[in-house]
Amino acid sequence: MNESLLLTIAVLGGTGKEGKGLAYRWAKAGYRVLIGSRSSEKAVTTASEIMELLEGSSSVVGTTNIEAAQQADIVVVTVPYSAHRNTLESVKDALKGKLLVDTTVPLVPPKVRKVQMPPAGSAAQEAKEIVGDDVEVVAAFQNVSHEHLLGEQEVECDVLVTGTSKKARVEVLTLVEATGLRGWDAGPIENSVVVEGLTSVLININKEYGSTYAGIKITGASNPAAGSE
Ligand SMILES: NC(=O)c1ccc[n+]([C@@H]2O[C@H](COP(=O)([O-])OP(=O)(O)OC[C@H]3O[C@@H](n4cnc5c(N)ncnc54)[C@H](OP(=O)(O)O)[C@@H]3O)[C@@H](O)[C@H]2O)c1
Repeated sequence: MNESLLLTIAVLGGTGKEGKGLAYRWAKAGYRVLIGSRSSEKAVTTASEIMELLEGSSSVVGTTNIEAAQQADIVVVTVPYSAHRNTLESVKDALKGKLLVDTTVPLVPPKVRKVQMPPAGSAAQEAKEIVGDDVEVVAAFQNVSHEHLLGEQEVECDVLVTGTSKKARVEVLTLVEATGLRGWDAGPIENSVVVEGLTSVLININKEYGSTYAGIKITGASNPAAGSE
């Protein structure tokens, strides 16, 4: 058995649209998944829904955000930007020595078609400031619409992975592959500003052209699998 499949992934805010879809895909790939929420009851309900969809021996358990972060090897944050700081501060102590994956786009409603980055540069850089030096932060999935994650349909969007170290990015590229999507090492965490900003561009395209899941694809390069260099 692939050793990575023994890892436990906590999805904070995994009761929501993006988190539930990612949790489903990781559970399907064999990871042990913990759904985190402000309400353990809500998390338990979401975990049962995912287990029902998978109809198999997958492991998906619902609990609070803090317990999920404590028990996991890798912690993924999937909450709206308005809840980003509070959520990270509430689990900060549990993250030491772990890998944090941030999916957040710093949208500021109602102007979600316009790129509006926080003073740190991006949501991922802000996350790094909050969680501190003992935590590797990798940003990913910001351009992937939740629409087709909960199911077998191909998701027509590549995943640009930026982060605080090459090793951490490679680890997350493995997680991307496990979701069935194609990932690319997009460089240091400072580059996350471009990836997060692209989401406002995609939202604008959706609104202008009547779509709901516009995505991005990298062309002109090959062998994007994690660790293949
Ligand atoms: N939706 C997409 O297609 C998509 C695509 C790419 C990236 N993203 C990013 O993924 C993140 C989640 O997006 P989403 O659409 O999945 O969000 P969502 O469904 O609106 O919310 C996700 C979860 O966040 C928690 N939450 C909501 N408001 C909160 C608050 N005020 N304080 C603390 N927790 C709160 C809730 O969990 P509990 O109530 O269980 O605590 C909720 O189920 C965002 O940062 C977004 O930019 C989303």
